[in-house]
Amino acid sequence: MDNRTFTLIKPEAVAAGNTGKILDAILGAGFRLRALKMVSLTRNRAEKFYAVHRERPFYEKLIGYMTSGPVIAAVLEKDNAVADFRRLAGNTDPARAEEGTLRRRFGTDTRHNAVHASDSDEHAREEWEQFFTETEITNTDYSGA
Ligand code: CMP
Repeated sequence: MDNRTFTLIKPEAVAAGNTGKILDAILGAGFRLRALKMVSLTRNRAEKFYAVHRERPFYEKLIGYMTSGPVIAAVLEKDNAVADFRRLAGNTDPARAEEGTLRRRFGTDTRHNAVHASDSDEHAREEWEQFFTETEITNTDYSGA
């Protein structure tokens, strides 16, 4: 399905009290919430989520960071969801992200960059399936949320 994507609001953004502002910006950009939950990642879950980065020099610190406090997981729906959410999230490095993007507004550095944004439809599904069962993702046809 090409109209859904997955995001995590990362630990520093949750700890800083920015969850509401980030969700508001996401909804304001035209995304609908299809699933939402707060989770504290275990090391195993973080390693699975970031398995593609296992060989990267930043991997260990990334896992330490992503297990340092709760994250908010969400399935988002909108036409062209993956590309549009990556645009809303902004560059991986908040200092290089465009004005108004989530990472520019709420991220502090390349690791602590406020939100995760899936990079393809296939990965989005693989990622949300690590957080939500099929029945936890609503298909109700409604507007405004
Ligand atoms: P995310 O989009 O969740 O996917 C991989 C994460 O690794 C990325 O966001 C950053 O949090 C982190 N990351 C990517 N590149 C670097 C880097 N060069 N240094 C530190 N952390 C990084």
